[in-house]
Amino acid sequence: MSADGPPALSVEAAGRPRGLFVAFEGGEGAGKSTQVRLLCDWLAAQGRRARATCEPGGTPEGAAVRAIVLDRAHTGLAPRAEALLYAADRAQHAHAVLRPALEAGEVVVTDRYVDSSLAYQGAGRAIGLDDVAAISRWATQGLRPDLTVLLDLPPETGLARARGRAAADRLESESIEFHQRVRDTFRALAAAAPERYLVLDATRSVDELAADVRARVGTLLGERA
Ligand code: TYD
Repeated sequence: MSADGPPALSVEAAGRPRGLFVAFEGGEGAGKSTQVRLLCDWLAAQGRRARATCEPGGTPEGAAVRAIVLDRAHTGLAPRAEALLYAADRAQHAHAVLRPALEAGEVVVTDRYVDSSLAYQGAGRAIGLDDVAAISRWATQGLRPDLTVLLDLPPETGLARARGRAAADRLESESIEFHQRVRDTFRALAAAAPERYLVLDATRSVDELAADVRARVGTLLGERA
């Protein structure tokens, strides 16, 4: 560290955006995309500028990464390569979508973010949470959600829902033990920082869940006004 202060690429150097950043997390079939849509519709009806986005594939470049990581033909993809691909998708997403929208004062709502990498790669693939956290922090320059909504449900229930929709992709095809580690990790991350999380039982109805999400996001927006 120089006498002038911290090194240039600190989290602070990347700036604190003005908008509100909300992430939805959860296992397969938890209903994240429905809740992202309902929240953004409600925000728009309130006259707020709201942006729904997702990982992987929230940018044109990320769509190419998404095709690689979800393709079942890629049976030989190494866990560390997988972690770096998700991080690359996230770096592009943070650079091209998340930061610009937050700096413009928008409410940004993403379907998956850093916790998905911690849960799926760190715990699911068992390559360690600390390294995955460090890669994601570097990729995003420390950009953290103001609120993460965890839609929690047993993996058996979620996988049955997801499999009713479409053929299983590469991650969905993993064992129930893998998906149980994913769930446990999401819950542990939320328990470690309850002020930044809203944990909801995703077996409840869509409308009940949406109402709880609106209440918490409404409170956060009110506090900032
Ligand atoms: P997607 O079709 O978007 O699934 P979902 O509707 O469940 O979000 O596929 C994303 C898959 O990628 C999902 O199985 C979770 C996985 N994933 C990771 O393993 N690591 C990550 O960092 C992210 C963002 C997703």
